[in-house]
Amino acid sequence: MNNKKACIFDAYGTLFDVNAACRELSLDVGDKWQDLANLWRLRQLEYTWLRNSMKEYVDFWEITSSALDYAMEVLNIENKKLKKQLLELYLKLEAYPEVKEVLKKLKDKEYKTGILSNGSIKMLDSAVKNAKIENLLDEVISVEECKIYKPSSDVYDLVEKKTDIKKDNVTFFSSNAWDMHAAANYGFKTIWVNRFDGTLERLPGKPSAIVKSLNNIDELI
Ligand code: LAC
Repeated sequence: MNNKKACIFDAYGTLFDVNAACRELSLDVGDKWQDLANLWRLRQLEYTWLRNSMKEYVDFWEITSSALDYAMEVLNIENKKLKKQLLELYLKLEAYPEVKEVLKKLKDKEYKTGILSNGSIKMLDSAVKNAKIENLLDEVISVEECKIYKPSSDVYDLVEKKTDIKKDNVTFFSSNAWDMHAAANYGFKTIWVNRFDGTLERLPGKPSAIVKSLNNIDELI
């Protein structure tokens, strides 16, 4: 992959819709479905950061399951069957509508494409297959290879290790501002996909561009 340029994507919230599981089961979850989706996602991320500090890695599937347990208890949703269904849906999260087309455009322009994610290999393979984008991605890179979560620089190092492409030739896309800041600080060119109308964090690293979705990103690289 030398002398090539790569476009690397965060997975959850950037390519795959993290709210899709709760939304799909909103009739069963009830009017708290958005609160559940938000608290689940928040704890999922917080557990990765806390476990990094504690040096207590477990894979992202276990983190996702513990975070859901916590969120359901806080919101007084006691339903083992629902928990199982929500977790199963997490393996088949919908991709955002523009994803396939955008990846096709990048491949036409001969960029290398890949995912760099906290997700376990099993979770990522399943989501990628479900979205039918496996032929449009050169690499699906999981933190399972270094057993530490973003924003550790060990994670961003995996891109060069797996692709042989130097960080100056990598554009990284994330909807998670903290991930974008960390990747920019690491040395990737970064584009913040601000899908959720967020605010820039007060952290090192700046995006080269901010967009609302992945539409037309090929014109920005
Ligand atoms: C990921 C999370 C951070 O896919 O969205 O790595």
